[in-house]
Amino acid sequence: MSESLVQRPAPSLLHLDASADANSVSKRLTTVFADSWRNAHGAAGYRHRDLSADPVPLVGPAYVALGTRVERHGVIPASRVAALIEDPAEEREWVLTRSLIAEVLDADVLLLGVPMYNLSVPATLKAWIDRVTFPGMFIDPDTGDHLLRDTRVVVVMARGGGYGPGAPRAGLDFQTPYLRAYFLGLGVAEENLHFVAAELTRAGDIPALAGFQEMAAESLTAAREAVTALAARLAEPSVVTS
Ligand SMILES: Cc1cc2nc3c(=O)[nH]c(=O)nc-3n(C[C@H](O)[C@H](O)[C@H](O)COP(=O)(O)O)c2cc1C
Repeated sequence: MSESLVQRPAPSLLHLDASADANSVSKRLTTVFADSWRNAHGAAGYRHRDLSADPVPLVGPAYVALGTRVERHGVIPASRVAALIEDPAEEREWVLTRSLIAEVLDADVLLLGVPMYNLSVPATLKAWIDRVTFPGMFIDPDTGDHLLRDTRVVVVMARGGGYGPGAPRAGLDFQTPYLRAYFLGLGVAEENLHFVAAELTRAGDIPALAGFQEMAAESLTAAREAVTALAARLAEPSVVTS
C-alpha cells in the first residue's frame, strides 16, 4: 500500500484581543502565541482584531428582527440570509455581521486575549460574541454537523486578583465557565478548548496585594510557558496521510 504526505495550505489564526490597557498582560501573552504562529506559518493566514481599539457595534433591533426571522426558517446557509432582509437597517446589520462570521469559519485556531473586568469578560468581547453568534451560522444546514467542531480555541485570560483554590475569591471567576459554556454550545470539541490564566496581575500596583508579588510573577511565568507550549503544539504543520 502506498502512502503519500500531502501538505495542506497554511492554516489560519484569528486573533482577538479585548484589553483596553496599553500595558495589557493578556495582549503580551497572545502576542507570544501569535509570533510563534507566524514564525511557523507566515502571515498569510493571520488575522488580528483589537476589539477595544476597534469595537464591534452592539446588536440593535434590526439585528434581532432579522435573526428572529431567520430562526423561523430553521438552519439556513449564510447565502440565504440576504433574501430575508426587509429594510436598510437589517441590511446594515447583516453587512456588519457576515464578515465576522466568515472570519470565525475560516479560522483553524481562534486565539482570544481576555482581561477580567468585574469578574467576567469585557463588554467589547461580549459585543463580538453577541454579533457573531447569528442563528444557525455555525451549523451545516444539510447535515446538522457543528462547523466549529475541529476549530482549536485558545483563551488567554489575565486578572488582577487570585481566583485559585483557597483564595478569598475562589469560585468568583465567571470568565472561564462562561467562555467554556459558550464555545461548547457553539460546537467546539472539549479537547479543542484551551484556557490559560495569569493571576494577580495588579499585585505590583495595589497595596493590599503587595504580599502576592512573588505569586504573581510565578503565575505570569506559568502562563507564558503554557501559551508557548500551546503555540508550539497547535502550530505544528498539519499533514494528511493518504
Ligand atoms: C474595568 C476593569 C475591571 C476590572 N475588574 C476586575 C475584577 O473583577 N477582578 C479582578 O481580579 N481584576 C479586575 N480588574 C483588573 C484586571 O483584570 C487586570 O488589570 C488584568 O491584568 C487585565 O488584563 P489586561 O492586563 O490584559 O488588560 C479590572 C480592571 C479593569 C480595567
